[in-house]
Amino acid sequence: MLKLSSVHTSYGPIKALRGIDIEVYKGEIVCLIGSNGAGKTTTLMTISGILKPEAGDILFKDEPIKDTSPHIIVKKGICHVPEGRRIFPRLTIMENIEMGAYSEVRTQKSELRNNLERVFALFPILKERAKQMGGTLSGGEQQMLAIGRALMSNPELLLLDEPSLGLAPIMVSRIFKTIKEINNEGVTVLLVEQNAKAALKLSNRGYVLENGAIKLHGRGGDLLHNEEVKKAYLGE
Ligand SMILES: Nc1ncnc2c1ncn2[C@@H]1O[C@H](COP(=O)(O)OP(=O)(O)OP(=O)(O)O)[C@@H](O)[C@H]1O
Ligand SMILES: [Mg+2]
Repeated sequence: MLKLSSVHTSYGPIKALRGIDIEVYKGEIVCLIGSNGAGKTTTLMTISGILKPEAGDILFKDEPIKDTSPHIIVKKGICHVPEGRRIFPRLTIMENIEMGAYSEVRTQKSELRNNLERVFALFPILKERAKQMGGTLSGGEQQMLAIGRALMSNPELLLLDEPSLGLAPIMVSRIFKTIKEINNEGVTVLLVEQNAKAALKLSNRGYVLENGAIKLHGRGGDLLHNEEVKKAYLGE
């Protein structure tokens, strides 16, 4: 579904990605792990068109998207939930969710209603609190809102940047469970996580990013037992 080949991305003189290759197949959950500054966020921002790679190719469903603008990439079926949630604290929860559908000008009302029902089924708390301000939600609930908002565009590929960041363990496991449910409904997921253990357990495959390059990749279960990964990312 998604294929990055020798992708290089820089911030001015700073080289953040030095030729990375990543593939994501339809129906998979793939995680990208790595330490602070490795280039995880840069990878997602390059896929979603916010950053333009200086070299390499990105194919989505066999179509090149590296020169496509972000709003067209959303229409093509890729939705990015950025690091740090970025919900609108002074809009209601309902208004926040509706913002996720605003690019869908051509979408039928009935389809929007279906998407909304699906979001509320996944996250009942958002329905219960629909009229309250987004800023009144806890960190974990705001993460649910950010994911729910992304689902309103009915993505085929969901890019998640550190959804578990700063959440208590119970909320982390709820978010991971929800990612699995979303995947079971047919959405392919590329997940960036510092929480390497949980991410590898959840994922079909994983990539380890170090200094802007892919150091290792393999099946989630295999990486969990890899000595290098254990030492560097699992604290074992
Ligand atoms: N706006 C920017 N301007 C200049 N350099 C940047 C910018 N954003 C990121 N970088 C640099 O690019 C590299 C990759 O950063 P990136 O944010 O992709 O890392 P990350 O793996 O997401 O890290 P973290 O786990 O801390 O979120 C780092 O060296 C970072 O300092
Ligand atoms: Mg990051």
